[in-house]
Amino acid sequence: MLRIPTAMVLALALAACKPGVEAQSKVSNVIDSSTVLDPNSYAQTDKVRIEHLNLDLRVDMAARRLLGSAELQLHWLDPKAGALVLDTRDLDIRRIDGFDGKVWRPLRYTLDRRDPVYGSALRIKLKSALPRVRIQYATRPEASGLQWLTPAMTASKQPFMFSQSQAIHARSWVPLQDTPGVRFTYDARIRTDASLMAVMSADNNPNAVRNGDYRFSMPQKIPSYLLAIAVGDLVFKPISARSGVWTEPSMLDAATAEFADTEKMIEVTEKLYGPYQWGRYDMLVLPASFPFGGMENPRLSFITPTVIVGDKSLVSLIAHELAHSWSGNLVTNSSWKDMWLNEGFTSYVENRVVEAIYGKDQADMENVISQFGLAEELKTMPAEDQLLAHAPLVGRDPDDALSDIAYVKGQWFLMFLEKRFGRDTFDAFLRHWFTTHAFTSTHSAEFERFLNAELMQKHPGKVSPEEIAQWLHQPGIPSVAVPAKSARFDAVDNMRSKWLSGEINVSEIDTKAWSTQEWVRFLEGMPEVVTLVQAHDLQSAFAFDGTPNGEIAQRWYPIAIESGAVESRPDIEAFLSSVGRRKLIMPTYTALAQSDEGRAFARAVFAKARAGYHPITAASVEKVLADPAPQNNTP
Ligand code: BES
Ligand code: ZN
Repeated sequence: MLRIPTAMVLALALAACKPGVEAQSKVSNVIDSSTVLDPNSYAQTDKVRIEHLNLDLRVDMAARRLLGSAELQLHWLDPKAGALVLDTRDLDIRRIDGFDGKVWRPLRYTLDRRDPVYGSALRIKLKSALPRVRIQYATRPEASGLQWLTPAMTASKQPFMFSQSQAIHARSWVPLQDTPGVRFTYDARIRTDASLMAVMSADNNPNAVRNGDYRFSMPQKIPSYLLAIAVGDLVFKPISARSGVWTEPSMLDAATAEFADTEKMIEVTEKLYGPYQWGRYDMLVLPASFPFGGMENPRLSFITPTVIVGDKSLVSLIAHELAHSWSGNLVTNSSWKDMWLNEGFTSYVENRVVEAIYGKDQADMENVISQFGLAEELKTMPAEDQLLAHAPLVGRDPDDALSDIAYVKGQWFLMFLEKRFGRDTFDAFLRHWFTTHAFTSTHSAEFERFLNAELMQKHPGKVSPEEIAQWLHQPGIPSVAVPAKSARFDAVDNMRSKWLSGEINVSEIDTKAWSTQEWVRFLEGMPEVVTLVQAHDLQSAFAFDGTPNGEIAQRWYPIAIESGAVESRPDIEAFLSSVGRRKLIMPTYTALAQSDEGRAFARAVFAKARAGYHPITAASVEKVLADPAPQNNTP
């Protein structure tokens, strides 16, 4: 992940036009989220908050645009504010009207110059605190939060469109206060071609008639990053009374079989942390260009098809997105600096669910893999980004701050607390956190206060304040952290060492009972340099080239590239051209970018694959394939 040098962050922070900067510096020591502005949004949430959104949009697949209106119901904290400031990016605003309780009247507005990260503040002038404002607008084909797929790019050979709003992409398809610190309910009417089906992060009716005119309502308050929509040749198959899969017809049976344990997962999580509060839990399996593994859109998680490998070995992703129904969707980070409250808590809950359903061995293996990833990332991460209680992301793109610190260090901290206080005590504590903070947005300082009052004070002597401070406010992993261990991985490590030292032949490695995780471990533990002879040995024994398992491909292709095994290139090209999930393809692009020849090959592949990539993935690949910085050869 490309990181912004500290000097640049400071320079950006000083740029007065950045959202929230001014307010941030005035209130630098205030920790109450209701008064601190989110530096990644232009919204003045201390003056006004959206309470309800009413969307009325037409989906124009040919023009790659959403056209229609967003009506906002407002709650004014400062009725004299005189303006409503909204986040937008690349929206064509057609007209804005305000409702004073009796009539609708046109309003005057200005659209600020576009900031490459934050977009354009939309400033609507108001003489009084109007209860409702309606914006008529259209999105642009390049909207960062939408991907438009041509028929050729889908299994059904029908057009497809989906959104990805987290972290700050909702503003590219709806004008709103794009901060997780504001929550609102929503309704929507979505019109599409009659042959297509629309679904949203709302109440999807499994029996909806396909007629091109769909209505949705989301009665629970959600932050903007959980607004979601998808349109395509979508069909539904139930898994249980409250859960099922939406996807293109050709994927339906494989997906429902892979995710058959979903109802069990919901029940396990409810038993630990209280009732599932969102009604249905469905999953939308997207085309392979979906840039993430999963996205916890409420009532309808969006899922990559790359986890459908036939043996349920990657369904911890479902446990993860489901867990967000408590950590994230119910209790939400109020700005992106505190993302660990979403992702760390979710990774912890995910692993508890995996342990309950698939056993301790599986949960341990998954933890070892995550901690290995964190250790790799820490090697190059600036110290100030290694804190759980991160500084405000002033002037930064929250997508660039996404790291294993939030996920893995966050999870590890909760595992540490669980171990010290005991599982029963910690389970009750976490359940209490979710119950007392449900449907609110919160931050690290509030968690620290709650932890102190509800665990530290009530069970003195188990954990010291210094230990808590180390986890939350110091870089790196505290020395008191106990690393995850896996006996099954010890066996894998042992086999690999024996082969590397020449003690055994590659054919003597007993892989019959290996799951995806053991293959991952086998490859992750390879030395820096794998020779061409060794790479050929591996390929001839295990036929990694062309593997349908993205977790294996992600780790094998960089090894093949670095060893110089050019005969893997056709399979590498096929992999990079068929998958758009960023995590899976970035290591291979990065390995190719290490040499001039590799970079040239990668650029040629990217030129062809790009049209099928999501804007988020395309931007990441572009960064990695940019010309390398000139070498400084002075002695
Ligand atoms: N909410 C995240 C995805 C996300 C994070 C999107 C930040 C945009 C910005 C989702 O819940 C997630 O964590 N997905 C992971 C899978 C997980 C099992 C670690 C992913 O996509 O890899
Ligand atoms: Zn997550």
